[in-house]
Formats: sequence, C-alpha cells, structure tokens
Amino acid sequence: MKKLSRREAMRTIGAAGAGVTLAGMTEAVAQIPAAPAFRGQHQIKPLPFDPAKLKGISEKLIRSHHENNYSGAVRALNFVEQRLDAMMKDKDLPAYVYGDLKREELVRTGSLTLHEIYFANLGGDGKAAGDVLEAIKKAFGSYEQWEAEFKRTGNALGGGSGWVILALNFHTGEPHNYWAWDHMHNAPFSRPLLAMDMYEHAYQMDYGAAAGKYVDAFMQNVNWEEVNRRFTSAQKAAEALKA
Ligand SMILES: [Fe+2]
Repeated sequence: MKKLSRREAMRTIGAAGAGVTLAGMTEAVAQIPAAPAFRGQHQIKPLPFDPAKLKGISEKLIRSHHENNYSGAVRALNFVEQRLDAMMKDKDLPAYVYGDLKREELVRTGSLTLHEIYFANLGGDGKAAGDVLEAIKKAFGSYEQWEAEFKRTGNALGGGSGWVILALNFHTGEPHNYWAWDHMHNAPFSRPLLAMDMYEHAYQMDYGAAAGKYVDAFMQNVNWEEVNRRFTSAQKAAEALKA
C-alpha cells in the first residue's frame, strides 16, 4: 500500500463524497455502519423566537447568522464526523492527518453548541430576574457591576472574534464571566448560562465596526427566563457533584 503524504491524504478526504473509500480501506470495511459517535446526524434547530421582534438587531442579520454561520457549523460537523469514521477504517492513514480533522471537529462542536445556547438566550425583555440574579449579585456585588464587566469583556473582543460566557463554574461553585477567543475556548468544568457571540458576523451587518452598539442591543434582548432555567438546573447538578 502506498503511503499518503499529508497533502495527498487531505486532498483525498476533501474530494471524496458521502460514500468515500479512502486508501487503505477495503470495500467491505468501508461499508461497516458508522457508530453513533460518527453518524453525522446533528439537526439544525430553528430560531426559538420571532426574529422580526428583537430590539436593535435586525431580522436580516439574525436570519443570516442562523442560516449561514450556525447552520453551516452543523452541516460541517456532520461532514467531519462521517470523514472521521471513514478515516478510522483506513489503517494506513497517518495520525497527524487524523488530528487535523479532530481539531476541526472540536471547532464545529463548539460553534454548534454555543450558537444554540446563544439563540436560545435571545428573544427576552432584557430584565434579569430569578435565582440567577441573586447569584450574580452575590458574586459581583450588584447586577450593574456584573453587567459592566460582561459588556466590557464583549467590547474587548470587538473587531476580532469570540464569545463572552456567563457560566456556573462547577469547580468554584460560583457564576463568572469568561472571555473566549474562539469556539474552542471554554472555562473547564462550567455550564454556560448566557452566551454573547462577538464574531463580526453577529453585528457587522447592523452596526459595522461599532461592536459596542451591538453589545448594548444584545443586553436588551436577553431571555433571562432561559438563563434562570439553566442556572437552577446547573445548581442541582453542582449539588449532585458535591455528593
Ligand atoms: Fe456566530
């Protein structure tokens, strides 16, 4: 069997369709059904709110974000999982070639997850309430101090990429705002409660480079009922983890 160079292997993977047969794989091996981990059957979730009713974020932008960036990540993750399945059946494939696609899998997994969290925490009235508000006050001194830090972290990412994530850190037991440069940056062992997309595609259509205006608009649309639901379920998980 001829050994593939890294470039040749990637070209083979990229050019292949759904029924790909890689070098090093017999026809019989190629036909073994994919295990659940490699099925590539993630489904695109519809927007959970009326995109025409957000304050300061246009329907055109939200639909573009959902249809291109989020949906694109779901489709890409499905493709990557199927390619990984095919690659695992190729005993001659170099591990470093496999590693390239594993990195891509992590990028797309983070994008799918954070975008679904993001869209589900929009569509509200922006008024914080519930147990999560009390936890925020306890951790940050006041809601205003929490909001100022959350927004400043977002503004720090303006013009670049990334996420701001209010998360319940299971290790410390406290809510905290985290900076994330990309879809793979997450505080370890934490449950995202509120995610704000700071990639330019989240605001450029409406605000150009004025990321701060988008941050202000985002805060007006936070669905705190959903954030509170996440917090109360995460708290139960945190209690169970202590036991
Ligand atoms: Fe996005």
